Amino acid sequence: MFESFIKNLKDEPFVIKNFLANPEKYLSWDDIDRSLKNNYIQWEILDPSPSRHRIPIPSNRYEYFRYPIQDQNVIRQFIDQGMGFIMLEYSYSKEIVNELCKQIQEKFMVTTDVHVFGGKTTESHSLNLHADLATNIIIPTYGKIKWKVYNNRLSTLHDLDKIQAEKPWLEDPSLLDIKFEVVLEAGDLLYLPARVYHEAIPLGKRLSMSIPCWSVLNESQKIPR
Ligand SMILES: [Fe+2]
Repeated sequence: MFESFIKNLKDEPFVIKNFLANPEKYLSWDDIDRSLKNNYIQWEILDPSPSRHRIPIPSNRYEYFRYPIQDQNVIRQFIDQGMGFIMLEYSYSKEIVNELCKQIQEKFMVTTDVHVFGGKTTESHSLNLHADLATNIIIPTYGKIKWKVYNNRLSTLHDLDKIQAEKPWLEDPSLLDIKFEVVLEAGDLLYLPARVYHEAIPLGKRLSMSIPCWSVLNESQKIPR
């Protein structure tokens, strides 16, 4: 499965079309419905205004349950209204997804998880231009998403959220160089090295797996799968 992927690994961004067979088996809208009934899953809802801040989700604590539980009816309403959402820690909720993470962890010196990005309309935005500290593997499983990938990387001397004044390109992306633009479809793979700037622009109803790969120093630091 990873032969073509490994051949491409020079730590520059790249795309492999049709990487994953049957992507809907990994993540479908049925899985979103199912996950909305799972009290262990945490969600984020993206404000559709240009800030794309996270909208606060009410949550409650219950007797005999360790974690606060987010109000799933509110999350469902936000999603049905067409807001973009992120579901965290999806890798533990489906065996085939856990198995994909396991294969990545066996091949490479990383620990992984899967974040789901989705939305029901073109207006359900994803995040603004940003860079991540982890290497990311992006695999859409439903719909089409346009991606802008830049040559530039976040300096190791900058942090992610602070020192905005030192990063004027977050306000004006034309200050950066675009490496490529691509429309990803279900089953395609986008490899994003750590710290590369990128932006996803949904072209309609869509679901996508984002697999952050965090470097570890030895096997014992990999999360068990
Ligand atoms: Fe990202």
